[in-house]
Amino acid sequence: MTKVPPFRVLLPRDALLRRTAEVARQIVVDHAAEPPCLVAVMEGARTFATHLARHLPWRDPVHEIRASSYGSGTVSSGTVKVLTGHDIPADGRDVLIVEDIVDTGRTIAALREHLLASGARRVGVVALLSKPARRVVPVDIDYLGFEIPDEFIIGFGLDVAGRYRELPDVVVYDSEVERSALGWSTLG
Ligand code: IMP
Ligand code: MG
Repeated sequence: MTKVPPFRVLLPRDALLRRTAEVARQIVVDHAAEPPCLVAVMEGARTFATHLARHLPWRDPVHEIRASSYGSGTVSSGTVKVLTGHDIPADGRDVLIVEDIVDTGRTIAALREHLLASGARRVGVVALLSKPARRVVPVDIDYLGFEIPDEFIIGFGLDVAGRYRELPDVVVYDSEVERSALGWSTLG
């Protein structure tokens, strides 16, 4: 992408990286006895999980799971399907789901059920961001980066319809800012 619209920065990269390191340290302290099975929710959590893993001493790979809920827009469809990750060795393990953002809570709730059904002993949640005002399904987040207000955000791995994942900071998506910056007449 050549031109980036001037979206408002909510969380600058240095704060995201600092907090990610703190969260990792806490996970290590709490899992001294046995490494957890880490499961990152693709694609959004890829960036967070990559930075998190740099601070973890375990050699096990971070597993990837994919769930569908949003389609291509900014509004959740309400139903969540687990698309990949059926081969994750969760049986008997202490599993930690690594998620970019907990919004309604539906994705985490569905993935928890899925991983428990796969034999996980316990399923915990690591989330970079949480929008508590949007919660529909209650979710316990064991490790949280930041609570944020009810705004649609992008960057640091988060996207809108596949765009802006590569932005270094977490910024607030605004279709008007995008439209005027990019000279779009209509928004698909
Ligand atoms: P939930 O099931 O409503 O909790 O939605 C969680 C998923 O929706 C996350 O994994 C994100 O992929 C996506 N999502 C929720 N809020 C945002 C946002 O503000 N920006 C980008 N993606 C979001
Ligand atoms: Mg996601």
